Amino acid sequence: GQVDEGKVTYRSPSNIALVKYWGKKEHQIPANPSISFTLESCATTTTVSFTKLKSKAKDYSFELSFEGKPKEDFKPKIEVFFNRIEPYLPFLKEYHFIIETSNSFPHSSGIASSASGMSALALCLMHLEMELQPDLTIEYFNQKASFLARLGSGSACRSIEGPLVQWGKHETVGSTDLFGIRYPYKVHPVFQEYHDTILLVDKGQKQVSSTVGHDLMHNHPFAEQRFAQAHENLTKLRTVFENGDVETFIQIVESEALTLHAMMMTSLPYFILMKSNTLEIINTIWAFRKKTGTPVCFTLDAGANVHVLFPKAEKEKVDRFIADELVVFCENGQYICDSVGYGAKKL
Ligand code: PMV
Repeated sequence: GQVDEGKVTYRSPSNIALVKYWGKKEHQIPANPSISFTLESCATTTTVSFTKLKSKAKDYSFELSFEGKPKEDFKPKIEVFFNRIEPYLPFLKEYHFIIETSNSFPHSSGIASSASGMSALALCLMHLEMELQPDLTIEYFNQKASFLARLGSGSACRSIEGPLVQWGKHETVGSTDLFGIRYPYKVHPVFQEYHDTILLVDKGQKQVSSTVGHDLMHNHPFAEQRFAQAHENLTKLRTVFENGDVETFIQIVESEALTLHAMMMTSLPYFILMKSNTLEIINTIWAFRKKTGTPVCFTLDAGANVHVLFPKAEKEKVDRFIADELVVFCENGQYICDSVGYGAKKL
């Protein structure tokens, strides 16, 4: 079809990896498969307005605003993204785009917005692709949106659907390196309603970008064992998800978080991204779990903030525990209550 102008808005969530993606090959192909919970509250909302140009431009033509203000310093990232996806969206230079974006979480919370941001933008661009080719199916739409999001930021490909998304080739799940798929096996109700309270330990800029981090897995002394372990953990998770085995879930998820940080501590150069309050929180969670038997655990991203994961049924108990014992370790006492979500939505 012919599309002269239009406007679309998508709200796309963040996600939290249970088995971590850390290490990649060329073209954003992951070195190992990963799986994440899609989140509900932490999200980016992006509106893209598009107008067809009189003739194809030489460069990409777009304006960018973040939370209502022009955002020049973000433009190079978008340029790189457009360059990577243009082979799959050949119309990019035929339109002028106005991209308006905002996050549901505080700007400098130390929460990465690349997953939600890149997936929201990919979805808006897919909307235009769909208008140009109205016969595309919804499966194709989701797969290609995830495929494009991956080229923006690897983990972004896990934000299109929910509650659990697997990305990366794995011997028993029919998943692929090219895009994320909704977890295809049985998921016990306990994992369909999991909660994630994000404790903001350090809201500062990350010392290491994930790009640098992924690169440090090349020639890393433990890389091969780590990649093999991710495969094994995903195999184990299949029965865990099916049976609602929260105990084994906790063991796998905490081990994954510590392994991610162990990889950073043993690369060259080496990094410690945890802060002392990260460790205080981990020890306090362990003591509480031992004392009360409450199935609460933690996971970490490539930063100091702690994600506290627990079943919905434990919400009241864990909320009280967080308020009484963990808030003291948060910067300005800040934390975000989130839970598992079902993916991006067109608004
Ligand atoms: O999507 P990237 O390139 O920012 O990498 C994300 C890496 C981790 O958040 C540390 C792990 C993951 O699987 O999300």
